[in-house]
Amino acid sequence: MKFFLDTANLDEIRHGVALGVVDGVTTNPTLVAEEKQPFREHILEICKVVKDGVVNAEVVSTDTEGILREAREIATWHPNIVVKLPTIPDGVRALSILSKEGIRVNMTLVFSAPQALIVAKAGAYFVSPFLGRLDDIGADGLGLLKEIITIYKQYNFSTQVLAASLRHPLHVLAAAEMGSHIGTMPFKVFEQLFRHPLTDRGLEAFLKDWEKARETLGDIFAPAAVRNAAR
Ligand code: E4P
Repeated sequence: MKFFLDTANLDEIRHGVALGVVDGVTTNPTLVAEEKQPFREHILEICKVVKDGVVNAEVVSTDTEGILREAREIATWHPNIVVKLPTIPDGVRALSILSKEGIRVNMTLVFSAPQALIVAKAGAYFVSPFLGRLDDIGADGLGLLKEIITIYKQYNFSTQVLAASLRHPLHVLAAAEMGSHIGTMPFKVFEQLFRHPLTDRGLEAFLKDWEKARETLGDIFAPAAVRNAAR
């Protein structure tokens, strides 16, 4: 499963990319607005940091003409950009046109299986079901993800499933178990994936034991000059 970071914060993206397991970034108008930078320049900066990875940038128009204008413009900024459109009838209309033009589109704010079926038929590159926001209203985010993956497999749709609005490591794990192509997560959740208290405790004990036996073990990791001086 590919890991995308769900953030427009350059520090978080730099940290994540340095770990070598980030495949892309998703942004949305809220995340971009938090950074208080000009939209185009900021997205291009993210593209620079993410290098070969995909960067998702969203339109803000809600009518087909406006969506088409913004999506075509955003798509010219960088070859790694995927344009996000809202899953509303005007958005789907725009998707049908843009997908034929070869523009890669991520259909966002998906909350039902019929919405996911429709955007796949209209040629979406990614579909983004929002798991956490469904859980927030007492619905079943992971259940929706399962339905979408089952339907897409049934018909061999090429649309990639991007599990979005992931709130904790168990969401990420369940999405991976179901075979979601991508999971996008806030930096906090990404960091949580790396941590386990037994790893920290185990490492602490290893280092303590090493220190106790240091004289016998020798200072093999010290720089050569330090080792020679000790002889
Ligand atoms: C995905 O592309 C969205 O930006 C994101 O996952 C929304 O998540 P939220 O519900 O945490 O805002």
